[in-house]
Order: sequence, then C-alpha cells, then structure tokens
Amino acid sequence: MKICKTIKEMQAEVSKRDRNKTLGFVPTMGALHEGHLSLVRLSKSNCDLSAVSIYVNPSQFGPQEDFGRYPRNLERDLALLADNGADYVFLPDNEQMYPAGYKTWVEVEGLSSILCGNSRPGHFRGVATVVLKLVQIVKPDLMFMGMKDFQQVVVLETMLRDLNSDTQIFRCPIVRESDGLAMSSRNMYLSPEERAKALCLSQTLDMGRQMVASGKKRAEEVILAAEDKINAAGGKIDYISLVNGSTLQPQDMIDQDTRMLLAVYIGNTRLIDNCSLMQSD
Ligand code: PAJ
Repeated sequence: MKICKTIKEMQAEVSKRDRNKTLGFVPTMGALHEGHLSLVRLSKSNCDLSAVSIYVNPSQFGPQEDFGRYPRNLERDLALLADNGADYVFLPDNEQMYPAGYKTWVEVEGLSSILCGNSRPGHFRGVATVVLKLVQIVKPDLMFMGMKDFQQVVVLETMLRDLNSDTQIFRCPIVRESDGLAMSSRNMYLSPEERAKALCLSQTLDMGRQMVASGKKRAEEVILAAEDKINAAGGKIDYISLVNGSTLQPQDMIDQDTRMLLAVYIGNTRLIDNCSLMQSD
C-alpha cells in the first residue's frame, strides 16, 4: 500500500501505473468504519487498483460545526485500509489542498441549497470543491460513494456530468449496525442513551416503507406519522422529506422514485438516513 502525502506524489503514483488497469477511488474523511470499508471492497471487486483518500475537509464544515472534534485516528485507518487491500492512500493536508491564494469554488446550483444544504449553508460547496480537486488529482475511472449521503451522491453526479468528467460514480448501499442504525463516524458522539434513541431514524424509514406497502400514497400522511415517531423518541427533527430521487424535489404523491430523507438531532449530534419507499436499494 503506497501512502502519498503530497499532490505531486499521488499524481506520480497513479500516472505510472499500467494504463490498462482501471482505478477505483474512495474519498473519505477517515475514522473508518464498515460503511467506508464496504466501499473499498466494492472498489477492489470492480477495479484493478484502488485509491482511498483521508482528508477532513475544513471547507465543508460550518463555523459552529464539529470540524475541530471530528474523530481522527490515522494509525487505525491505515491498518484497516492495508487489511482491506487498498493500493494507494492519499493523505493531503490543508496546505496541499488550500494553499495561500486559493480562490476557486464549485457550486451545484439548486441541489446544494436544499435539504442538508439548507441546514448547512456552504456544506455542498465545500464537498463539491474538494471532491472535484480529488478527482482531478487521482483521475479515477470509478468513484465509490455511499447512498447514506444520498444528496451528496446526487450533487456530485450532477457536478461530474456538468463538468464533462470521465469519472463515474458507483452508488454503494448503506451499511447498518445489526439493529438498523446507519453506520457513521458521528455515531461515536452518542452516549449510550442517545445511541438507543438514534434507532428512531431507521425505524421511521421502516415505518414509512410499511405505510406505503399497505397502500398509503400521500406524502403528507407519511410525514406526519414520521414526525410523531421521531418526536416520541426524543429526536429533534431537522427535516423529513419525501423527494424524487433524481431531482430531490418534494413529492405530494409517493411513487417508484420517491425517497424518504431524514436529518435528526439526537442530543447535539445530527444524524441522517434515507431509503427508497417503494424499491429495494
Ligand atoms: P465520509 O463521511 O468519511 O464518507 C466517505 C464515504 O463513505 C461517503 O461516500 C459516504 O457516503 C460513505 N459512507 C459513510 N457511511 C456509510 C454507510 N453507513 N454505508 C455506506 N457508505 C457510507 O462523505 C464524506 O466523507 C465527505 O463528504 C467526502 C466525500 C470525503 C468529501 O470530503
């Protein structure tokens, strides 16, 4: 496993590979868990070589957010990546990614300002910018991204399409704990009581799917029931939305393309989860 700390080293490594070999790429912010590792394994099984980046990107965190205390555990992450067969690890620092005089930002209009973008202004501008920079450096054939961050996938697919990139996104399923909680680096912030409460996200999604399976097709009805369930569990709702999975626009009537997206505070920790309401994903 080759570890590269500078952009020059990373570019040199990937460009000296056999050009017939396909390259998969998994961008991460570290504090790796099974969700991240499932992406690495999907990259391994779909591409000849796999690169992973670990970079806690300051530009996607708001001033009041958790950038300072975001979990960092590089030694452990590197051991996990070696075990899972990553070929390259890219570990840039802020000096590499945003040197003095840095001026260029990527905005995916409309999609960036709704849902998580509404509660986290500037978040997707930071994500789009850093991911475009990483794609320009690594030049992967496929980039493996988790559907856990569904809006992020849609924003980045739109960016890569609009900017004529050769890199395609491979959508990867959400990996969950055995009781249903979607894995997230932020789950580490939860106290034991909060960890129990956090189950209300996946349970609310399950309830939504059951309501739709039993014939309920009006979004409002599902949203009201979801609000009740999360409030009863002691979660604080940031948003509950039933949207078209391609446009992310709200839908009044539920159909094959409808996804239910949730953002909920459990204590001070903001958690997200989502699922399709009529299809398995
Ligand atoms: P991070 O939160 O570290 O996530 C890295 C990748 O792992 C993302 O594609 C995310 O969707 C995926 N992932 C996280 N939890 C998952 C789970 N439970 N199941 C499946 N996939 C999961 O997302 C980011 O970092 C950053 O925004 C980044 C894209 C690296 C840009 O800084």
